[in-house]
Amino acid sequence: MKRYGFIGLGIMGQAMAGNLLKAGFALTIWNRTKSKCEPLVKQGASQGETPAEVVANSDITFAMVSDPAAAKELSFGKHGVLEGMTQAKGYIDVSTVDPNTTIEISQAVNEKGGRYLEAPVSGSKKPAEDGTLVFLCAGDHSLYEEAVPAFEFMGKKSFYLGETGFGARMKLVINMIMGTMMAGFAEGLSLGEKSGLKMNDILDVLDQGAIANAMFRLKGPMMVENSFSTAFPLKHMQKDMRLALHMGDENGQALYTAGAASFSYIKARSKGYDNEDFSAVLKAIRE
Ligand SMILES: NC(=O)c1ccc[n+]([C@@H]2O[C@H](COP(=O)([O-])OP(=O)(O)OC[C@H]3O[C@@H](n4cnc5c(N)ncnc54)[C@H](OP(=O)(O)O)[C@@H]3O)[C@@H](O)[C@H]2O)c1
Repeated sequence: MKRYGFIGLGIMGQAMAGNLLKAGFALTIWNRTKSKCEPLVKQGASQGETPAEVVANSDITFAMVSDPAAAKELSFGKHGVLEGMTQAKGYIDVSTVDPNTTIEISQAVNEKGGRYLEAPVSGSKKPAEDGTLVFLCAGDHSLYEEAVPAFEFMGKKSFYLGETGFGARMKLVINMIMGTMMAGFAEGLSLGEKSGLKMNDILDVLDQGAIANAMFRLKGPMMVENSFSTAFPLKHMQKDMRLALHMGDENGQALYTAGAASFSYIKARSKGYDNEDFSAVLKAIRE
């Protein structure tokens, strides 16, 4: 049976690695803040001392970290992924980063004889726990095929989109749409409330019409209650908007609506809402 590694045990990584363990795979883990390894070690995971050690002990290593800077530090840094990389090993980065970052890491892995796949995920904390994520894969096809059993325990669907960079592009397009929708939704709720409407009435009316959707249905009632318990941290949504706008710049696509929406997330971060759910953009929009 394949030996898996998992690096980055934040909101998403903790749940995804947990599902690999439940599936019975041998798993070695590492997290920068070591205490986050404890729950998984109790469930049978081995704890590596460094990312390099995780890669050395595993056939395929997954990584789920914050952003491009974290993904690069993890790969290129001291005792990082590349130090443990040898011929034919697989490295699958499921973090949300930009295409340039994923291509740079892919090339470095290939130079060491390793295989690289990017597989950013669509879905949040609950789908990660339930094993119903969607994987947006691109890169080494043989590695994709070998990792399908693991994807099946962590997710409900995986797409293979072609050469490295296409997974990141797809993920940023999807999250740019989601971030823009959330900002528009929050503006509507705030405008409605300030003009005397009941927010719950707005949700009920929205839910009967053509723009009813799963996100409004899930997040709306919590936003009305001012409850922003974190599934997707706001700082990561602002990062995704920033990366998508840069992608627009590189591809000659003006992104007026997403650009305007991104300012609401920047404002929310300046107010200290980094670690609240991205729906807390409502608070910044209200103020
Ligand atoms: N949450 C969601 O709904 C969701 C959905 C889809 C995609 N994503 C994406 O998935 C990624 C992780 O999201 P998350 O919600 O799990 O975030 P999170 O809870 O903030 O976890 C971030 C992880 O990255 C690690 N990390 C940060 N900087 C690092 C560095 N320089 N070196 C090594 N490790 C580092 C953190 O380690 P420490 O524990 O030491 O801080 C932690 O394990 C992000 O790219 C996010 O955009 C999230």
